[in-house]
Amino acid sequence: MIAIDLTGQTVVVTGGGSGIGAGIVELFLESGARVISADLRYSDDYAPDGERFAATRLDLSSSQDVERWFDLILEREGVPDVLVNCAGISTMDYVIDSRTEDWEKVFAINSTGLYVASKRAARAMTEAQKPGSIIQIASQAGKNGYRAMGGYCASKHAVLGLTKVMAVELAALGIRVNAVCPGIVETAMKHRERIEGGLIRGMTAEEIYAEDCSQVPLGRTAQPRDVANVVLFLASPLASYMTGQAINVTGGMTMH
Ligand SMILES: NC(=O)c1ccc[n+]([C@@H]2O[C@H](COP(=O)([O-])OP(=O)(O)OC[C@H]3O[C@@H](n4cnc5c(N)ncnc54)[C@H](O)[C@@H]3O)[C@@H](O)[C@H]2O)c1
Repeated sequence: MIAIDLTGQTVVVTGGGSGIGAGIVELFLESGARVISADLRYSDDYAPDGERFAATRLDLSSSQDVERWFDLILEREGVPDVLVNCAGISTMDYVIDSRTEDWEKVFAINSTGLYVASKRAARAMTEAQKPGSIIQIASQAGKNGYRAMGGYCASKHAVLGLTKVMAVELAALGIRVNAVCPGIVETAMKHRERIEGGLIRGMTAEEIYAEDCSQVPLGRTAQPRDVANVVLFLASPLASYMTGQAINVTGGMTMH
């Protein structure tokens, strides 16, 4: 069996405080990497917790705060080997009922915050002439349209566009940029979406869960670890010939 060993590598993860991001942090720590994470849920400005994990409280919707966070990373940790952009939010409403401020909030975190973090990581890798891997947690909503998720779907389509451009611009430097497109993952976000979507569609959260399961060819929804496994692969030398890709982790629900 080939084990992925990232001992000695520095991995930066946004949104590591819960759900898929927490699964990614856990798996990268198991791989031996040093993990620097930022999340709105963390309580400290910069808190090293043991030798291989540091957590920072950060609001990704503030571009200035993301810039300051990256300054801190470069000063204290050096140029990272891997960046995983996982933080994200969703709001639910049909487009004709939706509020412009919700659209702007979703874009500020899912697209603009991700763009600023990606830009800073890529610039640092470029200046240091250091190959690296940037991995965006997009969504199958970046490829399809889902009812009541206009802002979310648009923000994830934006992520896939940026991924392709950065992959082309950075390939010659050995910096790979890929996206992962999860399907239905059991996290706090998904549980809230079932409640809100149920109110909009006149269904219970349990009915929506049953509908979700029926749409997945592999017959079950995903756990955070299902997504983390693919992220670790993309960060590793096993994926050294992959860039500009948007990899579905959907149990077969999306095939394009
Ligand atoms: N759960 C799913 O079914 C699913 C499917 C496809 C894609 N995704 C994507 O996966 C990512 C993680 O989602 P999840 O399901 O684990 O949700 P989650 O709500 O469990 O976790 C999201 C994390 O992002 C953090 N976050 C939110 N806003 C932030 C901000 N302004 N600044 C810093 N951190 C912030 C939250 O505190 C939280 O820890 C998101 O980008 C989401 O769009 C989720």
